[in-house]
Amino acid sequence: MDPVFTPLDATFGAVVSHVDLKKLSSETWQSLNRAFNKYGLLIFPKQHLSIDEQAVFAARFGEIEELTSIEGLKSVPLTNMRQDGGVIDENDDMSLILNGNEGWHTDSSYMPVSAKASVLSAHVIPVDGGRTGFTDMRAAYESLDETIKEQIEGLSAYHSLYHSQNKVGHEAKAGQLEGVISGLNSHQIPLRPLVKVHPETGKKSLFVGRHAYGIPGLSEAESEKLLIDLIEFSCQKPRVYFHRWNVGDLLIWDNRCMLHKAGTFDRSEPRLMIHTRIAGDPQSESGVEVA
Ligand code: OGA
Ligand code: MN
Repeated sequence: MDPVFTPLDATFGAVVSHVDLKKLSSETWQSLNRAFNKYGLLIFPKQHLSIDEQAVFAARFGEIEELTSIEGLKSVPLTNMRQDGGVIDENDDMSLILNGNEGWHTDSSYMPVSAKASVLSAHVIPVDGGRTGFTDMRAAYESLDETIKEQIEGLSAYHSLYHSQNKVGHEAKAGQLEGVISGLNSHQIPLRPLVKVHPETGKKSLFVGRHAYGIPGLSEAESEKLLIDLIEFSCQKPRVYFHRWNVGDLLIWDNRCMLHKAGTFDRSEPRLMIHTRIAGDPQSESGVEVA
């Protein structure tokens, strides 16, 4: 049977049933890939993939971005859980990164090449909360007033993880976050247009999020206000969806045209998610310049 796509009650996203991600024919994968470009977010309930199976699935979509210095590690834990099952200290760099993750963002926009897509699955979940939010930035762009579209055409913003972590009270020294995310370089800050053209669909979307700041040509205050206003406008119904996880669920989203954020939960409870990131194409996902 072919996969069945049930659209979410939003401008984007679909739940996919009648598919086993462990056994994908190339025909089925092609239909998933078409749906990925169309919906921006695909939800596969209760697939229960192993870490390696998840990496194999993700690799169908492109080269995997290695996020740690551990050679060959394709999928990484996104978690507040220690090896012994307890939870990490609230001042741990990872804990502070999880705090930052609760702001709307797109993955790796602070890297020289921002991400194409991310795959996330749930392994240990808290009793309540921890829902992941998504926003359709294509629909957000389309809904903007013409005057705003004209105002932002040609504007760009810098994207930095140091900057965004600083805003949530995580004052990392130059080089410190490289210990958590390999490949990061605190001295290379990419500049990215606010309006992004999707390399596969040709659709325009708003490319903003918590890592963005410092629009050249605007004062710091004007830049901050514009970026906050754009995110606030975008992240509203019918362009948002919040996923309530079950263990075994797997989601893939298109970082080129979606924002996402983690939901709050009781940090004394463990939450373990497995994340695999698919690299962007340097042709279309590089910054226009590096500061
Ligand atoms: C991610 C992410 C949010 C969450 O995987 O990139 O931001 O809810 N996750 O864990
Ligand atoms: Mn993320």
